[in-house]
Amino acid sequence: MSTPLLFSAFVMNTSSHILHGVWRRPDARQTEFNSLKLWVDLAKELEAGLFDVIFFADVVGLYNDFNGSYRTHVEVGLQIPRNDPAVILSALAYNTDHLGLAFTSNIVQEHPFNFARKISTLDHAAQGRIAWNIVTNPLANAAHNFGQPLTPHDERYEWAKEYDAVT
Ligand SMILES: Cc1cc2nc3c(=O)[nH]c(=O)nc-3n(C[C@H](O)[C@H](O)[C@H](O)COP(=O)(O)O)c2cc1C
Repeated sequence: MSTPLLFSAFVMNTSSHILHGVWRRPDARQTEFNSLKLWVDLAKELEAGLFDVIFFADVVGLYNDFNGSYRTHVEVGLQIPRNDPAVILSALAYNTDHLGLAFTSNIVQEHPFNFARKISTLDHAAQGRIAWNIVTNPLANAAHNFGQPLTPHDERYEWAKEYDAVT
């Protein structure tokens, strides 16, 4: 049996994701990332264009510093500021019929019980269209945001297996 080819739009709820500077195009709307309307419009357009999924990347800290400072990252808006993608998904579900709604959530950011409750609520509301991109966290500053030290790589992945099983 052949595997179907799926089309996914790779986005982030921030001003500048991976194509830096594209927000300056007159027809770009990325600077409206704080507005729900941008994401609802985009989800509808992707669905009309027969995309299968809108996929939200997410990170819960700042990328590694440059010359000892985060100043450049902040000045150019390198994925700063960045909103929680899960919060807007029910609006996207309500305004679409069959688009898949994928979001990233890190194992450090939420207790598994609460996360399981949230994602199952979303998935019921979206009639089975929610997908979770599970990631572990490699950034010390992100771990500190949750009052934790950075966990070593292999231990993070052991933790992720358990988090996934519990969820
Ligand atoms: C296309 C792509 C998208 C990714 N998106 C995210 C993301 O949204 N959030 C995140 O924390 N990590 C993201 N990652 C990082 C991976 O989760 C992983 O940490 C990385 O590939 C390094 O692997 P390692 O964790 O084994 O060191 C992404 C990686 C790739 C290749």
